[in-house]
Amino acid sequence: MRLSESADGAGPVAILVRVDGDEAVERLHQGLIELSRVEEVRCCRYVGGWLLTACGVANADPDPLLRTVGAVVDQFDSLAEIIDVRRGASELPAGLEGFRISERFMVTGGGAAVDASTIRLDAAHVFGTGAHASTRLAVQAMEGIAGREEGFPARILDVGTGSGILALVAARLGAAQVLGIDICEEALAVAWRNILANGLRNQVSVASTPLAGLSEQYGLVIANVTASVLLRLADEIVGRLPGGGWLIVSGLQGRQGEEMEEALSRYGFQTVARHAEGKWRCLTLRYFPAA
Ligand SMILES: C[S@@+](CC[C@H](N)C(=O)[O-])C[C@H]1O[C@@H](n2cnc3c(N)ncnc32)[C@H](O)[C@@H]1O
Repeated sequence: MRLSESADGAGPVAILVRVDGDEAVERLHQGLIELSRVEEVRCCRYVGGWLLTACGVANADPDPLLRTVGAVVDQFDSLAEIIDVRRGASELPAGLEGFRISERFMVTGGGAAVDASTIRLDAAHVFGTGAHASTRLAVQAMEGIAGREEGFPARILDVGTGSGILALVAARLGAAQVLGIDICEEALAVAWRNILANGLRNQVSVASTPLAGLSEQYGLVIANVTASVLLRLADEIVGRLPGGGWLIVSGLQGRQGEEMEEALSRYGFQTVARHAEGKWRCLTLRYFPAA
């Protein structure tokens, strides 16, 4: 099993497990809740199945939790798979006045006024407050594209939209139409609330449609997901891009940056920019398919 971690910082570690079938989800839920290292198990619908989130104790080392959860998940063979590991407490603290995520953009909490450089986010248990480096790097990458002479693409797809933060930034940067997709229904509900809170419902929409179910072309695809998810989705991402289309890939750690460049170059992608913060890497690429 390949595990991917985005579990820096403090707060409880959350392990996200995709499960197929009502019977399997019940048995796995029970198995996880019995583990002494697991404090709480949350459950929501996932396209075609379920998503279980096993939360550990705050500030605990993620590795022992991963090993025990992994051992239970392995008993379900192809019916269950760990798809992400993250710090669960990614919500905005109540009353937060705001923090900068790039030279231009600030994230503010609920109640704050919004303007062209502000993204207002309501607290929620989904990824994407702007507190994580992988999100900030993707924002910087978008700003890099927006600063070019040819301008920012009009149609954008945000794969793994979470809170919707990157889709909202894309709209503020001038995209006419942005679609955010996610496998987590809770994330989609939160993203929709954030779209409304920012007054961007005419530009940004969200859907649970899997990437394989989309048929439109997008001038820019953004994907802040783990390297293994990205590699699994690479064929489908390529199918959504016209020649000359842009791809921003974030959520990579250390050497995964170079490995991803190498893997994507085989599809016809050329790297235009690299952004890094600590161990986190983000790539801006352009698609030039072979004639
Ligand atoms: C690291 S979060 C990124 C959230 C936000 N875009 C940001 O940059 O802060 C990754 C998101 O991808 C979603 N995800 C994982 N696999 C996916 C898939 N195959 N298709 C769509 N979304 C996926 C997860 O549910 C999660 O919300």
